[in-house]
Amino acid sequence: MSKGLDMRKAIAVRFGEELRFFRGWIEQPKAVGSIIPTSGVTARRMASVINTSSGLPVLEVGPGTGVITKAILAHGVKPDQLYAVEYSPDFVKHLREAYPGVHVIQGDAFNLDQTLTEALGDATPRVFDSVISGVPLLNFPVEARIAYLDSLLDRIPEGRPVIQLTYGPKSPIPPGQGNYTVEHFDFVLRNIPPTQLWVYRRGRH
Ligand SMILES: C[S@@+](CC[C@H](N)C(=O)[O-])C[C@H]1O[C@@H](n2cnc3c(N)ncnc32)[C@H](O)[C@@H]1O
Repeated sequence: MSKGLDMRKAIAVRFGEELRFFRGWIEQPKAVGSIIPTSGVTARRMASVINTSSGLPVLEVGPGTGVITKAILAHGVKPDQLYAVEYSPDFVKHLREAYPGVHVIQGDAFNLDQTLTEALGDATPRVFDSVISGVPLLNFPVEARIAYLDSLLDRIPEGRPVIQLTYGPKSPIPPGQGNYTVEHFDFVLRNIPPTQLWVYRRGRH
């Protein structure tokens, strides 16, 4: 195959991913939140919090086209140890094709217990190592964001992280409103738009 054809194919794959994401944004702008996917740099920073030697599965929320899913797998998580909850049926279809073996669950992450139980029943993992969340929170009232965080922290061991990305300057979940700590993890300039990463945990850390 010629170099030119290789390059055109690579561009088509990259552009296809962004186009798919952009289409999702047109259909559900509030839920998708951004017009292009997260950068690989941000995705790798988020995946870096996972402890692959814990033996526990990982929960990803709002995977979209799967940029962060890919980074989680590259970090060393086995596909069948990854559970990804995505609202959009189109993204779910794409994720199932692109990431065979990953448990891709269609449903609402703001109603996590019901979503997991309906999809997995008794096979729902009791505990995850950590949670990687790309769900846009700023369109929701603060109380709903705190309830969302609580439902995630209830599913991981004390001290383990929920990592969340946001484009706002402050933590989307304010400190001092519940049983969790808030830590600024990183500001990633190599992202469009630049993004802030926040980590939340139970206990004092
Ligand atoms: C900003 S996009 C992030 C996508 C991808 N993680 C990335 O970083 O490129 C937000 C994703 O969260 C999904 N989403 C929004 N609300 C959700 C909900 N309540 N439950 C599950 N997924 C949701 C959207 O469909 C979209 O795929």
